Amino acid sequence: MSGKRQSQTKHGDVINRCVCAKLYRVFTAKISADTQIKVADMLFSSFHTLANSLLEPFKEKLQDSITHPFTALKPWPNVDQILHEADRALKVLTVKPYSKRPYPGLNTNDPAKTFTPETRKHVAGLMRINHTGEICAQALYFGQAFGTTNPHNKTLFVHAAQEESDHLAWTAERLESLHAKPSLLNPLWYVGSFGLGALASRLSDQISLDFMAETEHQVENHLNSHLEKLPEQDDTSKAIITQMKIDEIKHGQTAILHGASQLPVFIRHSMATMAKLMKTIAYRI
Ligand SMILES: [Fe+2]
Ligand SMILES: [Fe+2]
Repeated sequence: MSGKRQSQTKHGDVINRCVCAKLYRVFTAKISADTQIKVADMLFSSFHTLANSLLEPFKEKLQDSITHPFTALKPWPNVDQILHEADRALKVLTVKPYSKRPYPGLNTNDPAKTFTPETRKHVAGLMRINHTGEICAQALYFGQAFGTTNPHNKTLFVHAAQEESDHLAWTAERLESLHAKPSLLNPLWYVGSFGLGALASRLSDQISLDFMAETEHQVENHLNSHLEKLPEQDDTSKAIITQMKIDEIKHGQTAILHGASQLPVFIRHSMATMAKLMKTIAYRI
């Protein structure tokens, strides 16, 4: 049997299994092998042209899906990286934070001794919220650094987290001076914020930057509201919050300088709702 005949038999066997088997048999019986090849070529080239023109409007989106963070192109973290993050979380949650800059309340007359028990409780509640907010900021930025594969953004997020550690140290010190404890739920807030930061980064570096800008913007508004809620004579807490506010504005501007834009309104509202829940709980426990 010739090679051409053998190939025809093989193709015939395959096509016999499909619904078009009958048509194929008529086609192969009546038309020569050369003509069959020409017709197949014509059909394939028509199909190729048609598929190309149909997919043209979606080419950009298809390209996006190839570089999508959940594909194998963005490597998943290894065990060493996960252990490193777990170690970092333990340090943030258990080790006394260290501040590179001086305590902003250093040159103020701390009125804490003159506070009534109710006022002390109120100020402690506000500072507990701020301390938990800084735990979340650490977790968020380390999560974002963990989730990105962009070395430039990784450095940006780690640097931001390190700057936030001053805030963590100051709020912890203020809580101590008020004889108050940090929130019992800090480990929970850390895990949630870390997950959120890592997810934002895995989704895309753009979303991650947008998220950073929006977080800092919401923190700035929140600190403004705390400046109003604090007792008038509490210059110590106010000095801490004022310096934190200056830093948070700077962080937001950094994100914008790196290309952050505004997140969709429903995401901004969801973030605000989550922050409200955290504040309500941290004020009490
Ligand atoms: Fe902060
Ligand atoms: Fe910040």
